[in-house]
Amino acid sequence: MNIFKERSMIHQEIGEMTYSAFEILRSKIYNWTGIYFINEKKYLLEARITKRLIELGNISFESYITQLNNEEFLHIELPKLYTAITINETYFFRCPEHIDTFREIVIPDLIFHKQKSALEQKITIWSAGCSSGEEAYTLAIIIKEEIQHLYPHIEFEIIATDIDEKVLNVARNGLFSEYSVRHVPAIYFSKYFHKEGSSFQLSEDVRSMVRFTTLNLYNQDDWRQLPLLDCIFCCNVLIYFDEQSKKNVIHSFYKQINMLGYLFVGYSESLYGIEHLFARNYELNSLAYKKNELTQFKSSTNIRNLYEVNSTARS
Ligand SMILES: C[S@@+](CC[C@H](N)C(=O)[O-])C[C@H]1O[C@@H](n2cnc3c(N)ncnc32)[C@H](O)[C@@H]1O
Repeated sequence: MNIFKERSMIHQEIGEMTYSAFEILRSKIYNWTGIYFINEKKYLLEARITKRLIELGNISFESYITQLNNEEFLHIELPKLYTAITINETYFFRCPEHIDTFREIVIPDLIFHKQKSALEQKITIWSAGCSSGEEAYTLAIIIKEEIQHLYPHIEFEIIATDIDEKVLNVARNGLFSEYSVRHVPAIYFSKYFHKEGSSFQLSEDVRSMVRFTTLNLYNQDDWRQLPLLDCIFCCNVLIYFDEQSKKNVIHSFYKQINMLGYLFVGYSESLYGIEHLFARNYELNSLAYKKNELTQFKSSTNIRNLYEVNSTARS
């Protein structure tokens, strides 16, 4: 059978996603992940979920929604739904200006303060929403090549997390496409990658520097596995969130980061409305946000409340 005919038959069987089905699904997804599909993105959500409906045997949107109310089904389905709806675009050396700021400003500043204090001589870095790991591995290469020899007594730990388990497996395997490695500087490319078929395998000494684990930024229970952090990279993740869910996550970053720690977000993202928690140093032309030491962030501010208020508002 002609593939187009086959597709349109399947689509007929599944039916269109009605506006009311869209609203129910978007609200559930929002409450689970913080990701918010605006009306203009209905087509995208429909296309992504249709894939799941086909895999589940061409069930309708309505029957999918009914099944999502079943705890047992939900437990098995959620990781697959997350894989279906997330956008995982990433590549090595994606944000060169971030790398420069990290090397020139953030690392020397963090180490200066560590050395002055009795703090553990260790820098802990988190790539939050790491997708298939290119951002975390880029940092690992930079630390290995350009930073570690300057500070031999400092230990560096890199943690990388994502909600999507499928991309984390790609990250752990360390096998990347030509697209993904196209911006790796030649000197590092020849040293740390070797060709395997049409892909490129990252060497074990870089891979062993990063610890990957599943973590949903919108699930407070998941945060318990994290240590206190010195530097967080959360780039091109919160653009899929709405203002409120973004604020909730940034508040959690604030609590999870050391007093003198730094936060990087994507080039097109801003911390508008939350500048009292993190501020940029424009004098140093720094792209990193530094935790605001003067902010009296009351520990009585209950982050969980923020989430609950928010999810009630949306449901
Ligand atoms: C576009 S990629 C960004 C990858 C990388 N940070 C970069 O800048 O190249 C966005 C990633 O955020 C993840 N993500 C989206 N919502 C999330 C959530 N609630 N918790 C954890 N990760 C999430 C997605 O699965 C996806 O892999």
